[in-house]
Amino acid sequence: MNVDKNIIEKIDTLRSQIRYHDRKYYVENMPEITDLAYDLLMKELERYERSYPHLITPDSPTQRVSGEAVSEFKSIEHRIPMLSIENTYSEQELREYDARIRRMLKHEDEIEYVAELKIDGVAVTLWYKNGIFTQGATRGDGLRGDNITANLRTIKDIPLKFSCADSHIPLLEIRGEIYLPNKDFQRLNQQREEEGKAQFANPRNAAAGSLKLLDPFMTAKRPLRLFAYAFGYCEYETPANHADCLKAIKKFGLPVNPNFQVCRNIDEVIAYCKAWESRRCQLDYEVDGIVVKVNSLVLHNKLGATSKAPRWIMSYKYHPEEAVTRIESMRIQIGKTGTLTPVAELQPVRLSGTTVSRATLHNFDEIKRKDIRIGDFVVIQKAGEIIPQVVKVIQERRTGEEKPYNPPVKCPACNDTVVKEEVYLRCYNPLCPAQAKRRIEYFASRKGMDIEGLGPALIEQLVDKNLIEDYADLYSLQLEDLTSLDRLGAKSAQNLLNSIEKSKKRDLCKLVCALGIMHVGSHAADILSKQFDTLEKLASATIEELEGVHAIGTIMARSILAFFSNSHTKDIIEKLKTAGINTKALDRKERASSPIKDKTLVLTGTLRGYSRKEVEELIKSKGGKVTTSVSSKTDYLIAGDAPGSKLEKAKNLGITILGKEEFEKLL
Ligand code: IVH
Repeated sequence: MNVDKNIIEKIDTLRSQIRYHDRKYYVENMPEITDLAYDLLMKELERYERSYPHLITPDSPTQRVSGEAVSEFKSIEHRIPMLSIENTYSEQELREYDARIRRMLKHEDEIEYVAELKIDGVAVTLWYKNGIFTQGATRGDGLRGDNITANLRTIKDIPLKFSCADSHIPLLEIRGEIYLPNKDFQRLNQQREEEGKAQFANPRNAAAGSLKLLDPFMTAKRPLRLFAYAFGYCEYETPANHADCLKAIKKFGLPVNPNFQVCRNIDEVIAYCKAWESRRCQLDYEVDGIVVKVNSLVLHNKLGATSKAPRWIMSYKYHPEEAVTRIESMRIQIGKTGTLTPVAELQPVRLSGTTVSRATLHNFDEIKRKDIRIGDFVVIQKAGEIIPQVVKVIQERRTGEEKPYNPPVKCPACNDTVVKEEVYLRCYNPLCPAQAKRRIEYFASRKGMDIEGLGPALIEQLVDKNLIEDYADLYSLQLEDLTSLDRLGAKSAQNLLNSIEKSKKRDLCKLVCALGIMHVGSHAADILSKQFDTLEKLASATIEELEGVHAIGTIMARSILAFFSNSHTKDIIEKLKTAGINTKALDRKERASSPIKDKTLVLTGTLRGYSRKEVEELIKSKGGKVTTSVSSKTDYLIAGDAPGSKLEKAKNLGITILGKEEFEKLL
């Protein structure tokens, strides 16, 4: 096809712009444009590529998530083995290391080192052929690893093409560490808990698990990051020293941890190790030590390697931060799906900058294995986990007064018999009040029916005072019920009733998520509601129909089926329907004919009677898009009370401005 030269140039420019901004954001940590402006560039490129699909190249920024899910990864041999690093744990050992290599090299002068943070993640190797990312793999056993190219392509830190066009590099292998920032790790675990999935023990496990997902589409959802730290195989003029390798890697567009330091001698290395021991807790990623590398690459060659590790590199490992405290009591936490988790209440103690008064004991097998008793002095540790863990009991401090904590036979909240499933104990009583409380909290949460003002403390009272048994009962609450509660005035009670009433109109996807079906989070709820259109159809779906839906696997399908065939669930759903809850997905036809379908709307000021989130959801449910700033791409500005500067900007750009009534009329 003969394509206009201008189109090719336009596509090239868009790709370069996106790569430039990727680099600014991910590598240099200095974004120059807003997320919205970036999205617009990406959308424009996608539009061009849709119209000219033959111009799509594998290194285009739009092609990060590509490739089918696989049943297993192919194993590949590393051209140069990925060796490990020898460890030291003290200043003394570091000095011995320095003396050893000076002896080996017959080196009179001090040796120059590069000290780097040791990132606690997953090692990967990345191959660039003529500056294009062609293959990536895990370390595996050091000789062979898994080919995880499709998953690595989804990570925006990894450029699909080197950013400097000037140097021609036939083939270069770069090695680095994939990690998950702590805040993203916590968010992921929180989401998994809500979906009834097992939690990752620490960010490293979460990163490793995310890289090993067989579907790149799933990996793309995990905000994985990279720090590159070394050249591997190289058909390129190798720099003279390691520090210059790091600078070159950064120039190619891969992120290098900025905290590395060239040290003139081992004393400076030791000072660096000590300085970072306490500073590392301020970082948003886990650092488990310092990697010390001889700077000169000539010396690397002279030193060579043992069968396990190169001699020019050494790691100084930090001990995980620990504290000693006493277990005052143990209790059981009951999740919304009935899992009983033992928790230790501790004498409060400082650990990694926070005061800790609870530790998870995971399950009763773990308590037995570590022989943890009430009254024990224990060592606790935080290694990226949200809640610290008990490492071990200090046996020497036992007095004989300590009491074992045996697994309960009955649920402490409802007295129903508990069932053991693998290492977990579960209560299957659908009427268990503890589970009911967690389920109602989830139902009312933002992900669910978003009932403003209904938090855990109120739910606790409502259930304990027998005013409600399950979430469907929320819809029959009367004003007097609420005013009878502690610390709830008439005005707040009325506001709460209004929020409950408002929640009846939520879209089906919110309701499906709010029901709290095991394994079904908001993403799956979205897919299910679009697929089945009504709650009735979803509730009567067969296992084949459920499994036939993209992204719904067997486990989820079985869980949905079990949920809807439960007689207690049937009663609750009947109650919800009688209360007048919306059980329909917004009609697709309605969405298609919506006047704001595919339109971009911006909000300014407040719209009386709606929260900002409600307006946004209303717009989304009618097929529109909400963005934060006004530009020439904005179709409507909705101006409420006390509008901001966006109003002026919209007027200048000639954008249609809607007041509250006009907005309601339009919908
Ligand atoms: S250099 C010969 N630099 O630590 C090994 N490794 O415990 C070359 N690691 O397998 C690796 N941060 O995955 C190097 N700044 C850093 C590192 C680092 C983390 C990992 C790497 C290695 C492991 C060894």
